[in-house]
Amino acid sequence: MIHKIGRNDPCWCGSMKKYKNCHEAFDERISILASQGKIVPGHELIKTPAQIEGIKESAKINIAVLDEVADKIRPGMSTGDIDRIVYETTTKMGGIPAPLNYEGFPKSVCTSINEEVCHGIPADDIFLKDGDIINVDCSTIYKGYFSDSSRMFLIGDVSEEKKKLVRVVKECVELGLEQVKPWGYLGDMSEAVFTHARENGYTVVRNIGGHGVGLEFHEEPWVGYIYRRGTQMVMAPGLMFTIEPMVNMGASKVTTDKENGWTVRTADGKPSAQWEIQVLVTEEGHEVISY
Ligand code: MF3
Ligand code: CO
Repeated sequence: MIHKIGRNDPCWCGSMKKYKNCHEAFDERISILASQGKIVPGHELIKTPAQIEGIKESAKINIAVLDEVADKIRPGMSTGDIDRIVYETTTKMGGIPAPLNYEGFPKSVCTSINEEVCHGIPADDIFLKDGDIINVDCSTIYKGYFSDSSRMFLIGDVSEEKKKLVRVVKECVELGLEQVKPWGYLGDMSEAVFTHARENGYTVVRNIGGHGVGLEFHEEPWVGYIYRRGTQMVMAPGLMFTIEPMVNMGASKVTTDKENGWTVRTADGKPSAQWEIQVLVTEEGHEVISY
């Protein structure tokens, strides 16, 4: 026998409100959508107010780390230097860099230059040179809460072609973000990202994407950028995920480095760019948690 939560019982979200005054209508809406065959999030993916506060504290560190990188990054610096800035800044603020030792990843941050799509490993013998574009992908754990965002940086004098790629991918993320609304679908966001990339003559990486985040580094749902409006998971208020499309100047095909098992590159050697934001679906629309 299954006992349904009583209407006067405390809500499952930890708000201390009665269920009938809190998530009862939410649960009804979810169950109708589920009965229509829609993909709906389970309660474990719906962040409670206390969790959101904790995740925001984590994101404060993540944003400060990216700001510090933005301040220091310059031609001639090694990606090992960036790794040290990330480690020092994160730990000074009481956080832990989430990538460090994550599934064997050896450093505190991912640094991906030019044709590198993602998961580049910082090293003391990789130097930033004039004309490079680089993605710096930071993730922080603070009191058990996870934040994750990445930015692109232009090193010195960058070609118009590469500058445009970096700008358009940022626009893709912002257009995707505009689609994040309660009771919409992840596909609404995905289609906006994909359309803008394609209209500019670019391709979107298909098999690497974003993810739920907050209580774990990588939670459900998988967040791809090749899906149509009205498909994929329902964006219920309290869902938190990343928007982090990887957009290529050439073909969408990518390969993973055979020696280190991490670094992903474009198969054709043409440049790739990525921006990543962490976003929360709210009752009113959305809130950017880390950028
Ligand atoms: N920060 C990446 C993401 O956006 C994950 C990197 S995993 C690592 O999901 F191990 F490579 F750091
Ligand atoms: Co991510």
